[in-house]
Amino acid sequence: MCAAEPAQVSSSFCRQNAVCLSHSAAEPVDTSGFVSLPEFRQDGIKMQIERAVNIQDLAVKAKRRLPKVIWDFMEGGAEDELTLRWNRQAFERVRFRQRVVTGNGRRDLSITLFGQQLSAPYIIAPTGLNGIYWPDADLILSRVAAAAGVGFVLSTASNNSIEEVARTSSGPRFFQMYPWGERSLSARLMERAANEGYSALIITVDSLIPGNRERDTRNHFAHSLRITPRTLWDGLTHPSWLMSTWLSRGMPRFENISEFLPERSSAYALAAYTRTQRNPFYSWADIAWVRLNWHGPLLIKGVLTAEDTRLAFENGADGVVVSNHGGRALDGAPATLDVLEEIVEAARHQTVLVDSGFRRGSDIVKALALGATGVLLGRAALFGLAAGGEAGIKRTLDILREETDRVMGLIGVRTTADIGRDHVEVANTSIPSAIGDMARHCTEDAGLPTL
Ligand SMILES: Cc1cc2nc3c(=O)[nH]c(=O)nc-3n(C[C@H](O)[C@H](O)[C@H](O)COP(=O)(O)O)c2cc1C
Repeated sequence: MCAAEPAQVSSSFCRQNAVCLSHSAAEPVDTSGFVSLPEFRQDGIKMQIERAVNIQDLAVKAKRRLPKVIWDFMEGGAEDELTLRWNRQAFERVRFRQRVVTGNGRRDLSITLFGQQLSAPYIIAPTGLNGIYWPDADLILSRVAAAAGVGFVLSTASNNSIEEVARTSSGPRFFQMYPWGERSLSARLMERAANEGYSALIITVDSLIPGNRERDTRNHFAHSLRITPRTLWDGLTHPSWLMSTWLSRGMPRFENISEFLPERSSAYALAAYTRTQRNPFYSWADIAWVRLNWHGPLLIKGVLTAEDTRLAFENGADGVVVSNHGGRALDGAPATLDVLEEIVEAARHQTVLVDSGFRRGSDIVKALALGATGVLLGRAALFGLAAGGEAGIKRTLDILREETDRVMGLIGVRTTADIGRDHVEVANTSIPSAIGDMARHCTEDAGLPTL
């Protein structure tokens, strides 16, 4: 499919009073991520970030910088967080079968996705509400990804708009859409994404009903933060975040949907509107409708069984994303690594991306060995972002590049295409270790749109 063709949609539904965003060339956007920080603070952040040896180090720094309520939102999983933990534990069951003395002294990490070459087998996953960690976070993520030749997926629930991100990033970028109720809303979002050169569309189907993230309920974290003595103290004791993010911008808005509400609608009003758009009745017929209206590659995100993989392809998908939403939707859903092979088999050589729990280059290589085309990075990217903005996300990508390259070298392959099923064996039982703890944690909101 040609990614560049515009979606066949009408914009006539665009409300009279809406602020229809201009697609024309605009002034360059400042995406430095250090908008209000003096230079010595930027240097300090960079130095600290450089000291992070792995993704877990970035997570520790992010946790230190963020108020608990924000950290819990990012890190948390649904209910007892079983799936959140299983996602990490599954990697312990996969062991490498390394080949030695292969003469492969230099590696090529690139993959080809729908005809597009990406410099690495990982892509930044769609995550909503990134602006609560760092101002202009979506611009920073997309710009750093583009500079590294890494793919980037913009969430519907982003805080920088489809158009702003397109102006900032010339790199490979995709758009994620929630299966919302009004088709006119979906049609308009698809039209905007196609006009702005987003080459693939990802529909997330695993959270038609919002996951029950109890940490957010406890923290009173809905889209507008309820200010209690505890949250006030939480903010005041995290001055770096308070000054650079909250006091500089306040609660970020869902910019992609601002055109559907009256001008200058509050962040809370926009969030409330997205809640009205939740559609638990969404069905494969709706996916078939999307297929008719989107002319680029289409992926279904949140598939965990062979049956649904087959249905996705029967209804026109070009790929699936094996995902349990990072353990944030259905607690008790399996680790994605555990179902990956079943899905790869059902996909019959079509594109299979996977996410949930990826924190190491070795995790990525294991998924490729089990048949994945590529991996999406959720929290691994957010940890870097929240720890240090632009410097942090660069560090995430550098760490994962170095780790992936090293593991490929150690198992004796030269290219990602050379990584095969023979390079791993899957044990039946898990060996208890510390890595399950890397993702141990937290919750969802009572009222937020499902992110
Ligand atoms: C804070 C947060 C917000 C998210 N928002 C979205 C979203 O807007 N759309 C979406 O499809 N998935 C969203 N996800 C799920 C991610 O795309 C991805 O599936 C998940 O983070 C992968 O797990 P990992 O974080 O363990 O890597 C979100 C995840 C997190 C942690």
